[in-house]
Amino acid sequence: TRTQVAIVGGGPAGLMLSRLLHLAGIESVVVDNRTAETIEHTHRAGILEHDSVRLLVDAGVDRVLRDGHQHEGIDLRFDGVSHRIDFEDLVGASVWLYPQTDVFVDLHRARTADGGDLRYGIADTEVLDVLTQPRVRYTDAAGARHEIVADLVVGSDGSRSVCRSLVEGATQYFREYPFAWFGVLVEAPPSAPELIYTRSERGFALVSQRTDAIQRLYFQCDPAENVEDWSDDRIWAELQARLAGEDGLRLNEGPVIERTVLPFRSFVQAPMRHGNLLLAGDAAHTVPPTGAKGLNLALADVRVLAEVVERALGGRGGRGDRAALDTYTDRALQRVWKAQHFSYWMTTMLHRGEGASDFDERRQVGELTSITSSSAGSAYLAECYTGWPQPAVR
Ligand code: DHB
Repeated sequence: TRTQVAIVGGGPAGLMLSRLLHLAGIESVVVDNRTAETIEHTHRAGILEHDSVRLLVDAGVDRVLRDGHQHEGIDLRFDGVSHRIDFEDLVGASVWLYPQTDVFVDLHRARTADGGDLRYGIADTEVLDVLTQPRVRYTDAAGARHEIVADLVVGSDGSRSVCRSLVEGATQYFREYPFAWFGVLVEAPPSAPELIYTRSERGFALVSQRTDAIQRLYFQCDPAENVEDWSDDRIWAELQARLAGEDGLRLNEGPVIERTVLPFRSFVQAPMRHGNLLLAGDAAHTVPPTGAKGLNLALADVRVLAEVVERALGGRGGRGDRAALDTYTDRALQRVWKAQHFSYWMTTMLHRGEGASDFDERRQVGELTSITSSSAGSAYLAECYTGWPQPAVR
């Protein structure tokens, strides 16, 4: 196969890129070693910044406006008291609760309907010759070997990226954390209309939602925690204890239908381009989940990437300006490091550190009080949470 852009990784980032390129008259082929069903059933985060929603809607993918829930704020809860951060009041913005799995389903459907070349469930992906004439090789479900020859390769193949290792001489920046999240899906109606980010002496907890009948909840745990050790009763007791307060807040309980331990890590690899290979999303950077920046950051990469690829390849009838590719890393990384800081900050402000002293505990509450008692502090959090303005196109 000959195409303009070979996209390795068909999650939301890869599919969104392929959709944006299609709208600009640029051909692409998407490959992914997972099946579409696997991706669709892998639960991920659920919050979209307003500009992520706009990007979807502008690309003709607008189910989020009907099935998503607009949230105008969040609660920060500590010492058993909730403090609302009103995004709409503070910065005139909001976010949308809409699961990443739905974003995937919508983009997959849109790209299938517009004739996209999507190859899921393949194996043994290899990316070759990215400094000259890039090629992607893989084995299909029937065992046959295939080759795609492309002008550019985009690696949107997630946190265990194979494309990432092809960027020679790259610098990797890491930060590990001594904890993880225990995430559950439960059959019970929402316990609150908006998200509750909680700091308690037992550790962090997050109350989120999915549908009228399903809740999504998380609590800080040991990275080595075994989900088998947690009965429904034990999970509910822990969550209720972390959320407890003078206001008598109680979570609506129900059967736990899914439980997973989520890894926690901050990571950036720079540059995000090597010759004709460009990285997007988790392939180039990972954030801890606190603040839900992962998908939003991947979509922001893709928005910039679609524009530079269009300029480099010329789009419909245009002439290519290869120098556009040189601007990608710097433009994308500005937002990446802001999101790295925000995710790190939300994490350290709300989680219990290993061996935290009484001083550490009280200082953390002092930090939370500084944010919630100051409109400047609250506006800062609101601005980061709802998403920084996208850089102007061109
Ligand atoms: C969800 C996940 C997050 O990491 C977060 O900060 C907020 C919400 C979620 O899955 O709903």
